Amino acid sequence: MKFDIITIFPNIVEEYINTGIVKNALKKKLVEIEVHDLRKWATDKHRTVDDTPYGGGPGMIMKIEPVYSAIEELKKKDTIVAITTPKAKVIKQEDLETFSKEKDMHMIIICGRYEGFDQRIHDNLVDYEFSIGEYVLSGGELAALVFIDGVTRLVPGVLGNELSLQEETFTKGEIDYPQYTKPDNFKGWEVPKVLLSGNHQEIKEYRQKQKKMI
Ligand code: 6GU
Repeated sequence: MKFDIITIFPNIVEEYINTGIVKNALKKKLVEIEVHDLRKWATDKHRTVDDTPYGGGPGMIMKIEPVYSAIEELKKKDTIVAITTPKAKVIKQEDLETFSKEKDMHMIIICGRYEGFDQRIHDNLVDYEFSIGEYVLSGGELAALVFIDGVTRLVPGVLGNELSLQEETFTKGEIDYPQYTKPDNFKGWEVPKVLLSGNHQEIKEYRQKQKKMI
């Protein structure tokens, strides 16, 4: 699975992907991620990637030429070209699961900025648009990272198999039981005794009950 991320803030994206679970997945070569600075494909001396809207109005619009050139250079035969936009459908856990199973997938993710893209980008260059929630962020970098993190941790081999069951319950919309770790007493706040009992049957029943209570 390979992602090419196009952004005007490559440092933000690099920082996140080189940490934690995603970093491990990269090291194991289970995913490949390349981060590109959109300004690389700007042609004027100021490296402009946005401009004022035709017809007037506030804000700046992402220009089509640099985005077009970036896609032309990075696109392969079966590439999915994706953009982040708060106007798109919000991604769900099941969407992430579907993508995580596409071992040979190549996806270019273009991170939106400012007030949006020139509409011709949406109309002609893009296969898939996604949002991460019903609120507006100042840029698509966080959304792209949410997507990549959420997909990567589901790629077989990235997390230990022990998590697969938990994953399944999450997807079905069930909420897990509460969990605790040492110490068993912190400032008088105690861990439920049953969890310290070593009685697996009782622990199982307790957890089952807790699940229903939430
Ligand atoms: Cl994908 N982009 C931006 N700018 N804001 C968002 C979003 C995306 N998803 C939720 N809010």
